[in-house]
Amino acid sequence: MQEKGKLIILEAGDGSGKATQTRLLADRLCAEGRRVRQIEFPDYGSPSSALVRMYLGGDFGARASEVNAYAASAFFAVDRYASFQTKWRTDYEAGFVILADRYTTANMVHQAVKLENTAERDAFLAWIEDFEYGKLALPRPDLVVFLDMEPAVSRRLLAARAAASGAEKDIHERDAGYLERCHAASVALAARLGWQRIACSSAGEPLARELVHEKIYEAVRRVLEGSL
Ligand SMILES: Nc1ncnc2c1ncn2[C@@H]1O[C@H](COP(=O)(O)OP(=O)(O)OP(=O)(O)O)[C@@H](O)[C@H]1O
Ligand SMILES: [Mg+2]
Repeated sequence: MQEKGKLIILEAGDGSGKATQTRLLADRLCAEGRRVRQIEFPDYGSPSSALVRMYLGGDFGARASEVNAYAASAFFAVDRYASFQTKWRTDYEAGFVILADRYTTANMVHQAVKLENTAERDAFLAWIEDFEYGKLALPRPDLVVFLDMEPAVSRRLLAARAAASGAEKDIHERDAGYLERCHAASVALAARLGWQRIACSSAGEPLARELVHEKIYEAVRRVLEGSL
């Protein structure tokens, strides 16, 4: 039987360098001669992200916490389903390395923080796992890299980027404290689910992109070893 590809996820809070690091990693793996496909979620360029865009734009509630975690998760999950079926399934099944900027892991972090108590969160996490990997049959990741940047640092990077682009903040970005809650949830999930945690800042400053890249590459190399 033909071996499937590898699915590698870069997960992190807003503005922690996911896009930057996914690109650096894709370039490096391509240069090594690997077949690589870069994807990102939400898939803003696709109509499948319409409900996600409505949600982030505040159509279902001006605050993220007002919007049902299960409904919001379903929007992101079906966007992934559409992307998988129409864009990268063939490459994945042909053995490509698929590099994803966010995945199911983002629902696990960003929607779970809406639920107050541990029992509710655990039930939600079990549901997400069953819904996306089970019912929707989306591939499970071979590696999840959690880019651990202190929230104060990513907030600064985001502010600099927003000032440069003039883009409006979405309902998650507008919510003070949300970045911190997500960061704490990510740290806990990384330990629980075996995500590879990589420090991206130290003492209030971002680490150099190249340094972070080397650490990610090392983790990825271990997973890809023997697959080329
Ligand atoms: N190590 C770094 N040092 C300094 N600046 C960085 C570093 N990594 C990324 N940046 C800058 O920080 C900003 C956010 O980075 P990037 O867009 O890669 O993050 P992201 O996690 O994809 O963000 P979002 O969640 O908003 O999509 C960008 O302006 C980027 O150039
Ligand atoms: Mg990004």
